[in-house]
Amino acid sequence: MTRSTQFDVDPIFVSRWSPRAFDPVSIPEEDVNRMLEAARWAPSAYNIQPWRFVYALRDDENWEEFVSLLNPFNAGWAKDASALFFLVSDTIMPGDGDRPDMPATTNSLDAGGAWVQLALQATQMGYHAHAMAGIEYDQIREKLEIPERFKIEAGIAVGTRIADHALDAEQKAAEVPSPRKAVEEIAYRGSFQHA
Ligand SMILES: Cc1cc2nc3c(=O)[nH]c(=O)nc-3n(C[C@H](O)[C@H](O)[C@H](O)COP(=O)(O)O)c2cc1C
Repeated sequence: MTRSTQFDVDPIFVSRWSPRAFDPVSIPEEDVNRMLEAARWAPSAYNIQPWRFVYALRDDENWEEFVSLLNPFNAGWAKDASALFFLVSDTIMPGDGDRPDMPATTNSLDAGGAWVQLALQATQMGYHAHAMAGIEYDQIREKLEIPERFKIEAGIAVGTRIADHALDAEQKAAEVPSPRKAVEEIAYRGSFQHA
């Protein structure tokens, strides 16, 4: 399926999609650092930058452990990715001298921005990034020593898509970029429109 847009946008937005068929190849550390660099420049409330990424590359000795922190469905395909990230966000907005520590209200929104920037950079570099909510939250906290104050947001698999001819018919059918709601369905000028 070719994705079509209603209005003119940079092609990067429709080029980004979430495949599951990855080629189990290594990724240079430099490429991962470039993706993290893009994430780093995401905007956040008060510039708190509440996102943290805990990650492994597929040649790392703890790769299998990272894969085991995904639910069985996601582990089945993401084991072939080249890098796995767990994105967490700080639920406390650190004080700055005048202001005490306060509960954060935008940590997940801010972390979402960082994930998208990572994904778009990955796309621009010819990789694919696929977010996952199907992850083992309690085990991630324990095994990766995530402090209680950090919310576990999502897993992210980054990899190189395997060539189409390597997929069977069922896999091929599942590997299709998805459509989107129309702009009029998600944006209301004036007040909320009830269907
Ligand atoms: C926060 C989040 C969690 C997701 N969780 C999963 C998941 O656990 N497993 C999966 O296969 N895809 C997961 N996805 C991928 C979505 O299904 C996908 O982004 C959506 O269908 C839109 O398709 P696209 O990314 O190809 O444009 C997740 C995406 C996001 C943003």
